[in-house]
Amino acid sequence: MNNGAGGPAGAPELVVMVGLQGAGKSTWVQRHLASTHAVVSKDHWPRARRREARQQRVVAELLAAGRSVVVDNTNPSPEERAPLVAAARAAGVPVRAVWVDTPLEQCLARNEAREERYRVPLVGVLSARSRFRAPSLDEGFDRVDVVRAGS
Ligand SMILES: Nc1ncnc2c1ncn2[C@@H]1O[C@H](COP(=O)(O)OP(=O)(O)OP(=O)(O)O)[C@@H](O)[C@H]1O
Ligand SMILES: [Mg+2]
Repeated sequence: MNNGAGGPAGAPELVVMVGLQGAGKSTWVQRHLASTHAVVSKDHWPRARRREARQQRVVAELLAAGRSVVVDNTNPSPEERAPLVAAARAAGVPVRAVWVDTPLEQCLARNEAREERYRVPLVGVLSARSRFRAPSLDEGFDRVDVVRAGS
């Protein structure tokens, strides 16, 4: 299976990470994309107002500058992913989803094992799970890669 790691720096693209809190998205991004892609996450601005709008603006600016970008959030629903797909379309670059498909129990266990200041409240994980829908080509992604334990 294609594990979504991609090749060395190539044509610009937008990567939309998808997965619950604790799934292992940021770890995967660090291992596979950090050297080739600008990493954007509204989690980097926990206290900023209008984080969504700011994230959209930063993504658009980086794509316009010719950079490859990865958006490292839970992005659980098609509604939350749609503006990112649209940003890639507007910039004329391909967009792929990388779905880190880790079972809920494992996400919760990993979250529990985190240092307290990095731990996400249980209600947040359950809220993301309730909104979750697997990413699909129907949403406009050019590719959907799935990362599972052992892949
Ligand atoms: N493949 C893996 N095997 C075992 N542990 C892992 C793996 N990937 C990540 N972890 C551990 O699980 C925890 C959560 O990983 P990570 O921070 O990458 O998740 P995340 O999906 O980015 O979560 P969040 O949405 O809250 O940012 C970390 O403590 C990390 O070390
Ligand atoms: Mg993360």
